[in-house]
Amino acid sequence: VFNALAQTPPMGWNSWNKFGCNVSEQLIKEMADAMIATGMKDAGYEYLVIDDCWQVGRDEEGNIQIDPKRFPNGMKALADYVHAKGLKMGIYSCAGSETCQGRPGSRGYQFQDARTYATWGIDYLKYDWCSNEGQKAEAAYRTMSDALKACGRPIVFSICEWGENEPWKWGKGIGHLWRITPDIRDCYQCVFDWGGVGVLDIIDKMADLYPYAGPGHWNDAEMLEVGNGGMTRDEYITHFSMWCMLAAPLMSGNDLRNMDKETIEILTNKEVIAINQDKKGEQARRFMDMGEKEIWAKPLDDGELAVCFMNRTENSWKLDYDWKKQTIYFADEVNIHRKEYKIRDLWQHKDIGTTERNTRHEIPAHGVLMVRLTPIK
Ligand code: DGJ
Repeated sequence: VFNALAQTPPMGWNSWNKFGCNVSEQLIKEMADAMIATGMKDAGYEYLVIDDCWQVGRDEEGNIQIDPKRFPNGMKALADYVHAKGLKMGIYSCAGSETCQGRPGSRGYQFQDARTYATWGIDYLKYDWCSNEGQKAEAAYRTMSDALKACGRPIVFSICEWGENEPWKWGKGIGHLWRITPDIRDCYQCVFDWGGVGVLDIIDKMADLYPYAGPGHWNDAEMLEVGNGGMTRDEYITHFSMWCMLAAPLMSGNDLRNMDKETIEILTNKEVIAINQDKKGEQARRFMDMGEKEIWAKPLDDGELAVCFMNRTENSWKLDYDWKKQTIYFADEVNIHRKEYKIRDLWQHKDIGTTERNTRHEIPAHGVLMVRLTPIK
């Protein structure tokens, strides 16, 4: 059962980026309602994940205690509410004895906690790495993985170890996704003294990790910041497009209850999401790096291909692209020199020609042109 989960990158919402410790039953219910009302569920978002701070202690038998003020009806009732809406419920814990916010972690209680989550109806566990007390990461995550496999309920396992111990090398079979960097910040290009990375740094880190991704085992590029206000529209489009190209989990991290039109249009762009959810499950490769102008390609099922032209510069990129002179091919399945492909612009939602002719397009500063190539039979 465990190995059959997350055959495409998980999609959902997580409380941390926008709400931090300010989680509650009310918030999660409102987010579930909003996920439906805004068309997010229809676009494929499924998991509602409560991050840190729902837990307050353990009883004398070691059972994890939920904050009774914030979750007055307990987790089972909340999961029932979420399930009744056709959505799934996620929760958070930590491989250390304390979470990053000083709440009780699962060290020493892994099997007990996994059983508890199963009785509540939990479908997804994000498992952090604070207070890890020098444990071996692979072993620590394997213990919780074994506990989840034995708990009697299919639970997606999200390894949140920040990439320090190269989880891409051991995470397959232990978890379904693994973080590769410190926490994302709501910015395109930035460095923070106090830790955290912007969108471009994450993309660069993802670039080498494509061999490790596939159905059931994904590189986690971090939760989305779309809609949180720190980036321009073009930067958010780049952020979202690249997460889709990279077959990264799509966990929205904004307030779904009051999104502007622009945010909804980005987060629910079904043509772009289809690239992320393509069943072949390949992560895009950066096959052309011309300084600050890059071309990424993601082979899709059935010989199709997604291509993303990414402009990191401060000026627009006047693209005039001769497909026939280029070397985009992946074995024989996708070969621009042998077949003609129809080209579809996934943000303009229109067909813009074929690979027999040059593609001309002005790509804005910090923006992308993302296209889908379909062989013409
Ligand atoms: C660190 C993780 O990387 C974040 O995503 C978040 O879960 C916080 N811990 C919560 O304390």
